Order: sequence, then C-alpha cells, then structure tokens
Amino acid sequence: MTQDQIMKLISSMTLEEKAAQMTQLAPVNFGFNCVTPLTGPDSGLRIRPEFSASIGSVLNCGSAEDMIRIQKEHLENDPHKIPLLFMADVVHGFKTVFPIPLAVGCSFSPENAREAAQIAAEESSVSGIHVTFAPMADLVRDPRWGRVMESFGEDPLLNSRMCAAAVKGYQGSKLSSPYRTASCVKHFAAYGSPEGGREYNTVDLSDNELYNSYLPAYTAALEAGARMVMTAFNTVDLIPATASEKLINDILRKERHFNGPVISDYNSVGELIEHGAAENGYEAACKSLKAGVDIEMMSSHFCAHLRELVNNGQITEQMIDKAVLRILNLKNELGLFENPFKDASREAEASIHLSEKNREAARRIARESAVLLKNNGVLPVSFSGAPEKIGLTGPFASSPYILGGWSAGNQTGIPLYEGLCGRIPRECIRLEDCGQIGSCLEGNPDIPAPDASFYARFKDCGTVIVAAGEHQEDTGEGGSKAFLRLSPNQEKLIQQMSHSGKRVILILFSGRPLEIAPIEPYCDAILQAWFPGTESGNALAELITGAYNPSGRLSISFPYTVGQIPVYYNHYQTGRPKRQESTDTRYVSRYLDCPNEPLYCFGYGLSYSEFHYSNLQIRNSSHSLTASVTVTNVSDITGCETVQFYIRDLSASLVRPAAELKDFSKVHLTGGESKTVSFTITKEMLSFYKDGRKIFEDGYFLIMIGKNSAVTLKQKLYITEQQFKKETL
Ligand code: BGC
Repeated sequence: MTQDQIMKLISSMTLEEKAAQMTQLAPVNFGFNCVTPLTGPDSGLRIRPEFSASIGSVLNCGSAEDMIRIQKEHLENDPHKIPLLFMADVVHGFKTVFPIPLAVGCSFSPENAREAAQIAAEESSVSGIHVTFAPMADLVRDPRWGRVMESFGEDPLLNSRMCAAAVKGYQGSKLSSPYRTASCVKHFAAYGSPEGGREYNTVDLSDNELYNSYLPAYTAALEAGARMVMTAFNTVDLIPATASEKLINDILRKERHFNGPVISDYNSVGELIEHGAAENGYEAACKSLKAGVDIEMMSSHFCAHLRELVNNGQITEQMIDKAVLRILNLKNELGLFENPFKDASREAEASIHLSEKNREAARRIARESAVLLKNNGVLPVSFSGAPEKIGLTGPFASSPYILGGWSAGNQTGIPLYEGLCGRIPRECIRLEDCGQIGSCLEGNPDIPAPDASFYARFKDCGTVIVAAGEHQEDTGEGGSKAFLRLSPNQEKLIQQMSHSGKRVILILFSGRPLEIAPIEPYCDAILQAWFPGTESGNALAELITGAYNPSGRLSISFPYTVGQIPVYYNHYQTGRPKRQESTDTRYVSRYLDCPNEPLYCFGYGLSYSEFHYSNLQIRNSSHSLTASVTVTNVSDITGCETVQFYIRDLSASLVRPAAELKDFSKVHLTGGESKTVSFTITKEMLSFYKDGRKIFEDGYFLIMIGKNSAVTLKQKLYITEQQFKKETL
C-alpha cells in the first residue's frame, strides 16, 4: 500500500474503529488458547461489538493453525479488511529454546544473540507471529528481581551490543521477507531497577543516571532498527512510564526520533489508576494517549473513552490518526495487506521447528554461556573406569524443566543425565534421585531431606556431580525473591556429600545469581549453567567432560550476600573508599561484617586453560589512540579468553563509575600461544551524558585491560579533545 492509500483508509475509519485498531487482545478473547500464560489480571475487558470486528492486534497466539483461523475470521468481519498483527513473547527462542538472555550475555558474543534471535524469528514466524516482544533492554543490578533472567546483564555496553544484535537477528534487512519478525524493545524505561528488587516496584533515578546507564541499551536497539517499543509498568521520577510524556514524547520520539508504534505493557494503562496517577479509565486513557502510547495491551480504556476524549477536546483526532498511521505502517512494512498470513504454515512449522540445525546452534550457544566459577582441578571429569563411578544427584540431575521463563508451550530440555550418557558410558554413572525442587509459588521451594542411606549409595564414587538450583517458575516475571541462598536441603546435600569425602562438582541451574558463598567451600568445582534451553544436557556434558573448554564470563555480579545488593562493578566511588593498603578500618565506606566486593564480579569466569596478561601499552599517534596487551595461554590446553577493556574517567564535572567496560575481544589461544590484543580508544568511549547532552571533558583517564572487572593492568593517561579531531559525538 502507498502512504496515500493508508491515509485514505484512515480517513474512512470511524473513531471506534481507530480505537479498536489501537487495542491488543489475547486469543482467549477470540476463543483460542495462548502460547504462554497471560501475565496479568483479567481486567474485565468489555469490548462492545462495534469494536470487536476492528481490533488491531493479538497477544501470544502460538500456532499457524490458530493464527490462520483468527485472521480469516477477522478479515471476514472487519469492514476495512485490515489484517490483525500477531505479537508474542519470543524472548529466548520459540520451539528451539536458547539459554536465558542473562546467560547469552555471559557468552560475550553479540553474534550468539543475533543467531538465537534469527532462529527464534524463523520458528515463530511460521507459527504466525509478526512482532516479538524482545529484546528486554532493561539494565539489571538486583538479582532479587526475577526478570534479571531476561536481561543481558549489568553493563550498559554489553547490554547495548547484545540488544542491537538481537534486533538485527529478528528483523533481518527487510521485514516483509520470509521468516522475519519485527522487534519490540522493552520496557521503556528503567524497569530493571525496582526498589528492593520487588516486581513492578517504584524506580527512582536521577536523569544523569538514566541517560548514562539505563538508556544506552534501548537506544542501541532503536539504532539497530527496532520497529516497536513497549512502555514499562514502573514509575520513573514518580510518573508511571506509560503516562510519561518525558519518556515517550520527549526522550523516545523527539530525542531518539523513533516513529514506530509504542505499546503499553499488559494493562499498564489501566494500572495508572492503582498507581494513583489517574482517577478512572477516562483519565488513564487520556494520560497515556497524551504521553504517546499508540496501542493499549489487554485493557480497553481506549475503546471505552476515545470518542468522549475527542468530543471533550482532550485529545485531537489528528493525534489518534498519527497513532493509527504508525500501526498501519508497520502492518504494511510486514507485507500484511498483501499477505495477511505472512509465513504462517503448518508444513513450515513441521520442517523448521526444532530442526537439527537449530538445535545445534542452541547447543553451541548453551556451551558458550555457562560460566565456570570454581575449579580445584576436578573438572573436566576424569575417572579411572570400573569399579569407580561418577555420582550424579540433585533436583536437576535428570530434570527436563530447565528452559527458564518465556518458553512457549509445555516444552522440556535434554536433562543433564541424558547428556552425560552421550559422553560417559551409562553404567559408569550412578544416578541417585533426590526428588524434584518445589517452587515458592507452590509453597515448598525445596527437595525432600535425603536420609543417611542416600549418601551410602555413592560409596563407589570419588566424585559426585550435584545439579542444584532454583525452580524455573521462581524466576522471570513475578519471580522476585528476598532470599537467594540455595534451599536448606540442597545446601545440606552439598555439605554432607563433601563431608563424606567426595569431590563435589556443583552444576547450578538458576535464572539469577544465587547467594552461594555458604556452600562454595564444600564444592571442588562450580559451573553456573543458568537455564540452558533445549540442548541443556548435551551442552553441559560437553563442558563437564572437557570436549569443550568453558569460556563464559559473568554478565552480572554474584553477591557475597543479599545484604550487599545492589552490588555491581560499575558503581561510583565514594569520598571514603576502602583501600586495601589503608589501616583505617572504621570510617571508610565498607561493611563491618562482609566484604564490599561481590563473590564473583562482572566479567569473571574460569577456563580449563590459564591466561596471563602482560605488557599493557598505549600508543598515541596523530591519527589514533590505542591500548594493547599481550595475552598468553600459559597452559597446554587450547582455550578462549575474553579480553576486557575498561576505563575510568578520574575527574569530571559529574562523577564517573569506578570502571566502565568499553570494548572486549574474544581470542582463541592454543597452549603456550601469545597474542597481542588492541583496542582503539575513541572520543565516544570517553564521553558521558550531562543534562541529556553527550559531552567530552579533557582530563586524566585510567586505561584498564584484564580478564575481568576486578583484575586488570592499568595505566593513567591525560587525554584531550584535540586527540580526536575528526570524531564527532
Ligand atoms: C510483560 C511483558 C510482556 C507482556 C505480554 C507483561 O506482563 O511485562 O514483558 O511482553 O506481558 O506477555
């Protein structure tokens, strides 16, 4: 359709039809099932018949068959024959499930995020999905919040690169091409910073912090071309994001020039009333429309009040037309006016879903996303064969419920035991069931206490793998927790196993960093598996047996204890920092009863190889400024190292973080091999936002390169703007 045709179409629509176009309902409202459970209360949708024929979009419909039926029926009834737009949460895969995004962040590979998104788009598009509600660009610093699993972690740069890559993976270069879906970046803005880590709670940030830490990842997704944006449930600066003219109209539309549709989150228009920001539905609709929301998800205040709002002069019909234009433009770009079913096809579902190629990618990405946190030499497992066996227990030893939230349908992953049996003769593994882990929601988040006879069953095992963690339902949306330790019986199991003289390898399944300091001393090795997806067991078995050398690095810090939270590497320095060499132990910024540092910091992760850093050099020529380091694999095992480049601006008109990741590079090194890794220092890297504007200030910077955010080689350097004559911000 041409723009003229679309404009003509809009001018032929009634206000009621426009309001319906701006409303999103679930398949249940059309008499069908959803692919993932609905995440909000039934807000008592009352869609009158004059609206229902013209509804604009559908939430979480998940099969080609349902989509085709809903679309056909809709087109028969809609007087203008405008196709429905089908949107769904395809967050880390569709049928082939990839590791949770927090884990993919640990692979430090934007290419992994792109590939996972591309496969997710292929698999979901053939099931009739046109728009995916991903990536979640919310920066996270509080593992009590259940949705840390959906984010790429605590760092703005890593988050930005991963989000941009995911957008490209979903969308490709042309939306109407086969197997592409539009990407809706969410949740605008700062949803990842709820007070106390409690779901949907207040967010209160300074503008400078918002611009420097929280906005970059959304912006990167928009620059990569994301076609839609979802608002957030929370308030920012005491205004709910869904009613924030500053966030939507000013920052998103005016500053970032975003011209695609903005959708509310699930009933977040209606929730303005609960927030105390609107007295009733009329006011809620008015405020969110004025702020710039184009589509209302799962509430019906636009339908109920639009005519009245226009009649009363609160909202102009021009504003409404602009919103409808944005929606119809997206439908047009997806090619829906020509082919309202786009890629939906049962045959294509059968050949594309869970194909061998897709599973292989899921296995590789899962392998690269796990992080080795501790290893006393017990990994990779070696065993002398019969009569010795390898013990395997814990609630995740043979559980297939290891996909994590937002996994379409009742799907399962390959259990660890099955994966191990592909690498170690089945008869050499002693699998002992200790029961399933319960969930907090069911009120029993633990395993049954093992009795003494349980431990005796491992008598012929020198090493026992304990697969422990949290129930997958206790993470994700609505999955906030105040306690992050492993459940008491899991902790006892690990301790007891160690006391009985076994070497303990802990494989941790979780959607967040857990508090593992209390059991760390009892473990000879710890591998953070996260929720690794469809290929879980196969990928983990490759790591455990050494077929693949672990290479993941933490995308989020692991607190020493919950009382430290938020604990993140790119914090600000206080006026009284704790210094290692200082003898003053009281009047400094520290805890009396616990270290300041997390147990494992951002960027941390071990390998079966060992890497040594030397020779940090800074080269300052007339046309470029570079920092380089020599990295040597001092072991005889080939491995992959993620070389991390950080800076600190030592004195500026706004205080800057103690360290900021500015680039990273993954290098493969054979045993004994050395490589020089260089990073170009740009003006952009050394700049920051002040009062909404990006600026550069001359001064001293600390240049740091190392294996994680805490262990780096450092050099101080005075840098002036003069250095970057050609670079504009
Ligand atoms: C979540 C969104 C999601 C939407 C639709 C909401 O509860 O916050 O992230 O896209 O539901 O399922």
